[in-house]
Amino acid sequence: MPVIVAIGTHKGGVGKTTTTANLAAGIARSNRARVLVVDADPQANLTATIFPHERRDYKGQTTLAQVLGGQAVLDEAIVETTTKNLDLIPSHIDLFEQEGYIQNTPRALLGFDAAFKQSALLANYELVLIDCPPNLGTFMSNALYAADYVIVPVAAGDKYALDGLRSLQNKISQVNVVKTDQKTELLGYLLTRCDMRTNVAKTIVKTMRDNFGPQVFKTVIRENTEFGKAIMFNKTIFQQELRASGAEDYAGLAVEVMARVAKTKKKESVPDEVSTETPADVAEVH
Ligand SMILES: Nc1ncnc2c1ncn2[C@@H]1O[C@H](COP(=O)(O)OP(=O)(O)OP(=O)(O)O)[C@@H](O)[C@H]1O
Ligand SMILES: [Mg+2]
Repeated sequence: MPVIVAIGTHKGGVGKTTTTANLAAGIARSNRARVLVVDADPQANLTATIFPHERRDYKGQTTLAQVLGGQAVLDEAIVETTTKNLDLIPSHIDLFEQEGYIQNTPRALLGFDAAFKQSALLANYELVLIDCPPNLGTFMSNALYAADYVIVPVAAGDKYALDGLRSLQNKISQVNVVKTDQKTELLGYLLTRCDMRTNVAKTIVKTMRDNFGPQVFKTVIRENTEFGKAIMFNKTIFQQELRASGAEDYAGLAVEVMARVAKTKKKESVPDEVSTETPADVAEVH
């Protein structure tokens, strides 16, 4: 079974989807692991970004909505993307409706986990990343329950970035109360949208490092306009502009994430030989 990592926080617009797409692409394109990304957000932004161009009109495509609704199995929803080693379980706006249907059923918490456990193809991947919606609702709970780890993006440009981290920690604890096997652990806080010329960013970065120390990834994702362009052209940052700071940052994060997963390894499938060094050119803010 692959290692499953949820990218989650209830804060909106902090770079969850950008991180899922580009961290996954950074890992997959460098052959560090075969990666499956799951778009668990009914907004379907991740799907819009990396669903393959030639099949833009995804009528007929099975999505997470049908999987959760019990009309399809996870394996039927897997789509290859234009990045090697990177596949996608797409979302659809119908997922909003599914949320209503599955409330008060076991699937409200266990739906993702059950879908993963029934999948035959999941064994083809070493890593699954789940892009969560910006709330603490059904899909976030599902993702946290199914996950081994969670990465929490924190936007360094938002002066309210630290508000609500406690609620998120409580949510993880609540899910862990009902988890019978391995508990979900924090893999790290990720500082995103970082412009160190601003006082807000300087304060947030310092406060996070002072309070959470090594729980904060060394890699910081800098503010970079290329991300906006990449989304416009339905590309990852690596397909958009390899020389962009964003490509450098997510390549660095890919190394750091795989090293952390290997270090705190719970599952045999993660290779031991993954380098634990981050590249010298990875952006670090001390
Ligand atoms: N490092 C960055 N530099 C510049 N723009 C960024 C960066 N990261 C994300 N963005 C932009 O910020 C916007 C929100 O990013 P994203 O969609 O990844 O956030 P999100 O947390 O997934 O949002 P939501 O809560 O709506 O799901 C997007 O337009 C994205 O291009
Ligand atoms: Mg998003």
